[in-house]
Amino acid sequence: MKRIAVMTSGGDAPGMNAAIRAVVRTGLEYGMEVYGIRQAYSGCLNGDFELLTSREVSGILQRGGTILQTARNEEFKTLQGQRRALRRLNEQGIEGLVVIGGDGSLRGALTLHQHGLPVVGVPGSIDNDIWGTDMSIGVDTALNTIIEALDRIRDTATSHQRAFLIEVMGRNCGYLALMASILGGAEIVITPEQTISMDEVAEALIDAYVRGKTHAVAVIAEGAAYSTTDLATFLAKRKDVGFEIRLSILGHMQRGGSPSAFDRRLASMLGMRAVEALRDGKSGVMVGMNGRKIETVSLEDVTTKAREMSEYYYELARILSR
Ligand code: ADP
Ligand code: F6P
Repeated sequence: MKRIAVMTSGGDAPGMNAAIRAVVRTGLEYGMEVYGIRQAYSGCLNGDFELLTSREVSGILQRGGTILQTARNEEFKTLQGQRRALRRLNEQGIEGLVVIGGDGSLRGALTLHQHGLPVVGVPGSIDNDIWGTDMSIGVDTALNTIIEALDRIRDTATSHQRAFLIEVMGRNCGYLALMASILGGAEIVITPEQTISMDEVAEALIDAYVRGKTHAVAVIAEGAAYSTTDLATFLAKRKDVGFEIRLSILGHMQRGGSPSAFDRRLASMLGMRAVEALRDGKSGVMVGMNGRKIETVSLEDVTTKAREMSEYYYELARILSR
């Protein structure tokens, strides 16, 4: 394999640049030319390719976002769109592709593999909703950002005897919310996988008040069964909660920022292994972290199997929030 390409797709995640750098430098090590595809599948359809040298990926290891930019593209979901993308890739002489992105992007990668192009996926998404890897690139940094925000908000919550409802990202997955609640010392967590009723939230807040807590923090996943604003309205109407209610939706500040040491390491290892997988003739696979090992799993499994949320972490959250 002499010419490969790399793209970042879906929501950007801290560490994507570190992964691009690893793909480029590993490719060069193995005597390959590495092209960057700008704006993911949109760039594939438009033929927006750029030859990347080692110097072009200098100084990006510590940068958030993605130098190749990213996009969401509906046309690529159609057979016609996929054929057009393949035509562009063939025109450019691309023999293998590394797709760094979330579960949707990996679904796209699988279609290209099914059309005959050698493709390897790299999990990159702050949501940690991808089956086949313990962690995706960006999750650790996003968690650190969320925890810092929680710590700051708790200062105000304590000073004013308030209950804060803090909404975090994660699409349909409660991983960020559950981990943030444990690591940020929240009193309650509400996830899509284990939603509790609004009345139960009220009871938990009252319980925290009665036990003498000077504040209460509830972390709510954006994919929970009800919105944070509806919950805030509900709680404010109940006069027996004990705390004044405030809400804070953290939003896109969770996605940016310089990648943590963990994410730089994960991205570097996965980027390198992705190129090695292509070199070894593998396709239709994703490289992921399983325990301490970097392994390949099939994209078929990645895109059909659901990641389980461990009951253990709910138990940890419940016990430690007392
Ligand atoms: P993420 O990769 O972060 O989960 P999306 O779900 O938005 O983000 O997917 C990113 C892009 O991947 C989509 O805009 C589309 O171009 C492509 N994609 C998603 N699902 C499919 C699919 N089933 N078939 C082909 N391409 C897909
Ligand atoms: O997948 C990453 C993510 O940040 C999700 O947590 C969130 O639901 C979504 O992307 C937001 O997408 P956008 O930036 O397009 O609003």
